[in-house]
Amino acid sequence: MSMLVQRDKWLQYRALSNVPKLARRLPETLLLEKETLHHMLLQHSSVVLKPCDGRYGRDIIFIRCLKNGTYHIQNENNTITMQNRDELQDWFDQIDKNREYIIQQRLYLARIQQRPFDLRIMVQRQTATPSAWKVTGSYAKVASRGYLITNVTNRTIPALKALQLARIGGRKLLLQVERTVLLAAKSLEVHYPDLRQIGFDIGIDKKGRVWIIEGNYRPDLRPFRRLKDSSMYRRILWYQKH
Ligand SMILES: Nc1ncnc2c1ncn2[C@@H]1O[C@H](COP(=O)(O)OP(=O)(O)O)[C@@H](O)[C@H]1O
Ligand SMILES: [Mg+2]
Repeated sequence: MSMLVQRDKWLQYRALSNVPKLARRLPETLLLEKETLHHMLLQHSSVVLKPCDGRYGRDIIFIRCLKNGTYHIQNENNTITMQNRDELQDWFDQIDKNREYIIQQRLYLARIQQRPFDLRIMVQRQTATPSAWKVTGSYAKVASRGYLITNVTNRTIPALKALQLARIGGRKLLLQVERTVLLAAKSLEVHYPDLRQIGFDIGIDKKGRVWIIEGNYRPDLRPFRRLKDSSMYRRILWYQKH
């Protein structure tokens, strides 16, 4: 794959938000700065900070503003409290400024047994003779106890089963998810003609709304390999070889 296909959450957000049908499926996102931190916390009482080049859920920070004016800052399964805006500002000032972060509206993801989950949807097109994008695999990732990110998980289940367990939908919702990721893949292809595969992280909120969290250009295939039913994994490998 071309070296030009770079992992950059801010670049990807801007590419996708240019497409009106996708813009409404993206959580509000800005580049993190002192001003955008306060602006976003006024708009949304909960926000998420992510390094633009991040992966595996590393260094993702959730900030929640409580009614009493304090702020809860959660990273992995640790939470610290800032008593007021000045303390939040001090905390912000010590973040590594050499690294770019995005700040994003927090989604209230649907849950299974109190744990948030999201969907991994694999889309591919043939390598040798670029064809139309196809959904070639999917599963749901359920967060571990105490975590808000689903990267730390020991539980993957079939996507449809997850929607049913969370009581937010069924096949119709899954089809809507698939239409969304296919459109997103087509839109990213415009920027990255060499792109052949994307593993999308798709959130479904408690109201059953579909949200694009991100597209991974080098998705981890191990979870597919571990599934009892090997048909998805075989299809994914077929697309990589043809
Ligand atoms: N805006 C958000 N609201 C709620 N949860 C989120 C949000 N963004 C990310 N998450 C959770 O954190 C996980 C990791 O975020 P993601 O953007 O995929 O970064 P990474 O590249 O580290 O995987 C997601 O799979 C999801 O479970
Ligand atoms: Mg991810």
